[in-house]
Amino acid sequence: MTKTIAVAGKGGTGKTSIAALTIDYLVRNKKGTVLAIDADPSTNLNLALGVPLTETIGDVREETATIASSGRPLGGMSKWDYLDLRINEALVEQPGFDLLAMGRPEGPGCYCAANNILRSSIDRLSNAYDWVVIDNEAGLEHLSRRTTRDVDILLVVSDPTLRGILAASRVAELVNELRTAVGAVYLIVNRVNGQTLPDTVLRTIEEHRLQLLGVLPFDPTVGEFDAEGKPIVQLPAEAPFRRSLEAILASLKLDGH
Ligand SMILES: Nc1ncnc2c1ncn2[C@@H]1O[C@H](COP(=O)(O)OP(=O)(O)O)[C@@H](O)[C@H]1O
Ligand SMILES: [Mg+2]
Repeated sequence: MTKTIAVAGKGGTGKTSIAALTIDYLVRNKKGTVLAIDADPSTNLNLALGVPLTETIGDVREETATIASSGRPLGGMSKWDYLDLRINEALVEQPGFDLLAMGRPEGPGCYCAANNILRSSIDRLSNAYDWVVIDNEAGLEHLSRRTTRDVDILLVVSDPTLRGILAASRVAELVNELRTAVGAVYLIVNRVNGQTLPDTVLRTIEEHRLQLLGVLPFDPTVGEFDAEGKPIVQLPAEAPFRRSLEAILASLKLDGH
């Protein structure tokens, strides 16, 4: 059975960095095959992973819409087969994992038929992997529209501020409104200076019944890598951010089967 891990939270909290290192953790520890899905229209998971990206599902959707409205035949294929083929072409294959970037969301003129086919095609593709790791855009509003698959583990990322935790709790509450079933929701507080969180922050976490999985330190190397355009997966083993995240992931006892 495929297990799905989704990373959510406000913009700039560290979702992409956490998603990329989670993928790297699963690959390095031979936990099984991994499909990485970049569900953020700004598509930067590939940069964090250090892999090239040539097209997105958004490109495929638009191309299909154009072809369909022009009435051109799809090379003798049904549109289902055609979209399956194009999704496979958009898939970036790497040793240990594959990456699919969703790209731009559907525009105001919803090409709903293509979206539905795309969704079921991506779901079918996902089922071929042991793990699916989804890097989401800020918020969760689009999770249901992107995929019908259930999420086993939702990691909500926050900065160590009161406002950040309140935003994270709203994301966690949104889960109940999704069509998607979510197994476990965990809070990760990122960019923490020192060992502990301020009392007000801890109290707010308790009040909102958020399950704190762990904290990740502020780590200047993370920012340096970003500034220099170096993939975060190349972060040294001893980097505090990497070490702390690996300890958190180890505590989840992620086993594919
Ligand atoms: N623990 C950390 N210490 C220092 N910088 C961090 C840390 N986590 C994230 N950053 C930096 O914050 C910025 C946003 O991180 P990113 O992972 O892209 O967040 P998101 O995907 O939520 O927008 C990046 O410049 C990243 O390098
Ligand atoms: Mg991001």
